[in-house]
Amino acid sequence: MSIKFSPLTEVQLKALQQLTAGIQQEQITWLNGYFQGLAGSVATGSATEVRPEEQPAEAGALPLTILYGTHTGRSEALAKALSQKAAERNIKSVIKPMDDYKTKQLKDEKNLLVIVSTHGEGEPPEMAEDFYFFLTGKRVPKLDGLNYSVLALGDKSYKLFCQTGVDMDLSLSKAGAKPLLPIVKCDVDYEDDAEKWGEAVLAELAKQQPNASSAPVRTAAKSEVASYSKKNPFAATVLDKVQITGRDSDKEVYHLELSLEGSGITYEPGDALGVIAQNPPQLVDDIIATLGVIDQEVVETRIGKLPFNEALKHHYEVTLLTRDVIEKYAEKTGIEAVKAILEDDKKLDDYLYGHDVLDLLHEFPFKLTATEFLELLRPLPPRLYSISSSQEAVEDEVHITVSRVRYENKGRKRYGACSTFLADRLQIDDEVLIYIDKNPNFRLPQNGTPIIMVGAGTGIAPYRAFLQQRESAELKGKSWLFFGERHFASDFLYQLEWQKYLQKGFLEKIDLAFSRDQKEKVYVQHKLLEQQKELFDWINNGAIFYLCGDMKYMARDVQAALLEIIQTQGGMTEEQAKAYFKKLKKEKRFMADVY
Ligand SMILES: Cc1cc2nc3c(=O)[nH]c(=O)nc-3n(C[C@H](O)[C@H](O)[C@H](O)COP(=O)(O)OP(=O)(O)OC[C@H]3O[C@@H](n4cnc5c(N)ncnc54)[C@H](O)[C@@H]3O)c2cc1C
Ligand SMILES: NC(=O)c1ccc[n+]([C@@H]2O[C@H](COP(=O)([O-])OP(=O)(O)OC[C@H]3O[C@@H](n4cnc5c(N)ncnc54)[C@H](OP(=O)(O)O)[C@@H]3O)[C@@H](O)[C@H]2O)c1
Ligand SMILES: Cc1cc2nc3c(=O)[nH]c(=O)nc-3n(C[C@H](O)[C@H](O)[C@H](O)COP(=O)(O)O)c2cc1C
Repeated sequence: MSIKFSPLTEVQLKALQQLTAGIQQEQITWLNGYFQGLAGSVATGSATEVRPEEQPAEAGALPLTILYGTHTGRSEALAKALSQKAAERNIKSVIKPMDDYKTKQLKDEKNLLVIVSTHGEGEPPEMAEDFYFFLTGKRVPKLDGLNYSVLALGDKSYKLFCQTGVDMDLSLSKAGAKPLLPIVKCDVDYEDDAEKWGEAVLAELAKQQPNASSAPVRTAAKSEVASYSKKNPFAATVLDKVQITGRDSDKEVYHLELSLEGSGITYEPGDALGVIAQNPPQLVDDIIATLGVIDQEVVETRIGKLPFNEALKHHYEVTLLTRDVIEKYAEKTGIEAVKAILEDDKKLDDYLYGHDVLDLLHEFPFKLTATEFLELLRPLPPRLYSISSSQEAVEDEVHITVSRVRYENKGRKRYGACSTFLADRLQIDDEVLIYIDKNPNFRLPQNGTPIIMVGAGTGIAPYRAFLQQRESAELKGKSWLFFGERHFASDFLYQLEWQKYLQKGFLEKIDLAFSRDQKEKVYVQHKLLEQQKELFDWINNGAIFYLCGDMKYMARDVQAALLEIIQTQGGMTEEQAKAYFKKLKKEKRFMADVY
């Protein structure tokens, strides 16, 4: 590349030549990203990662900070899109991830927009923790000069819906900040609500800045490439479906291979596949019979007029209950026993797990029309499955590993909406609507950095993708797999593949915990503890620790074991071990994909 006619000064040129002499490919890639970031912020005048006081003062310019707290990247994407929209209205913003925000700056902010999700069981995303505890703690300063608004992302199937956003909103308000708009809490179909909130807050802000326009002054060029998404899913053909648990297993786990041919869809190991589910036909029929309505009755839905049975099968969630549905049912029916469920936390927990909307109709009968019934329900959200293939290996295919949800309660057999749709009702050559759900927080390093992969049950799925990727790249970095399931004979998922990777040297070590093959339960964390010295050596020497599978029990216990290992093997106090663990998370050397 010639730099003869560059617009740089002589000093800048010299510095550039010094910087690039003998530069490595990895360094060029990093610099490329760095300069693209710079170019982006100069060109769009939108998202800049600088502090407000460092920005050149513009006459009448409105100081605006957008803070995001995310785990799976949605809040970040929304924050960036909002910043772009603000720029289109001549409103310049500073956008910051919460883990890179100096809390002492808060007292100087004038306008603050917060976009934050909730994870765990009503907890802030990891990267938002410090900001969350500062804001909700005693050290938060008086914020009576601040205007703010909160967009909270969540999922109504969790009991503590949008809790982090709710707590932050309350704390900002308590500190004297004035809401530009009330908090908006978004369920899994967050896109439209987020868009409306963004338009409304920008309109409010535009009132403060004389040269701001209430509508965008320019719009971003639309991409020519058809991009598939949750709103525009791709119809993928089922190429193969096999049960990978043995005949004697008390579990049914299926391996599915889908074709992405013609879609142009790309994904990376660590991403999840979004699947548009269909409800179990028997449950739909039972609901219609219990309501006593006509199955073909045409009803008004969010997406227009539809026959009632079709609306129930495709568009509304009926296989599980959320607090919101019970609240609406209590309000609509006025039934005291339903209200009582909501008033007792333990009762509510018990009722939410293992009950569906038909239980409400059976146990607390009330005459409802088809339309009234639909008004109680939330849209049927797609289900996510950790992708178990690498595109480097399978090209135009995507593979998933699905555990079929089936159980019996109160004499009725129940089936999970999506897992049984995939396992029972979808046949080879059928089509299924899918999209990719990116997960930037569960990534395999490009180089051969040592990796420790811990997974129980279907938590094994992303590691198959990881090893396929490493094999394709012929990268034999150190790798160690810990896998847990019930029985060796029937539940050792992808057993032959792990053996092949061991033989070929793409997997260095494997430890297995079959919980029900002996009297005492043996879980993955027991295997971690057994090998704690070597494990800590790996971690201390730079290995990345991955954790995937059940959030409620397994992930909690594995993290506790890891803390214990750090403390014991690192010769640390509990506080030091916690700080060490926190650093691992911050450096993305501990990554979790739990559900
Ligand atoms: C990021 C991510 C990755 C995921 N990856 C995978 C994966 O790789 N493989 C996989 O199989 N799943 C995975 N899941 C879970 C998956 O998305 C679905 O939640 C799961 O398949 C169940 O969905 P369903 O529609 O079949 O069941 P639903 O219709 O959602 O029913 C589930 C409900 O049934 C009830 N229930 C379930 N089991 C019992 C029981 N034994 N007793 C009583 N009640 C019960 C509970 O109320 C539960 O909420 C992942 C989830 C996330 C968020
Ligand atoms: N909410 C719940 O009660 C609950 C419980 C489990 C799973 N799930 C969900 O069910 C879905 C599928 O799960 P899955 O079948 O793939 O796997 P799984 O049910 O998580 O089971 C995989 C293995 O993990 C073991 N296990 C159980 N508790 C553990 C703990 N505290 N620490 C470590 N290991 C533990 C199991 O042992 P044993 O079964 O022998 O104890 C089994 O050997 C996931 O979505 C998961 O979140 C929900
Ligand atoms: C493991 C897990 C736990 C979650 N816990 C909650 C919760 O307690 N309350 C809630 O409202 N949403 C919860 N959610 C839903 C997320 O907040 C939701 O998916 C959100 O869109 C994620 O946004 P983000 O990508 O910015 O992190 C949880 C999601 C996952 C995967």
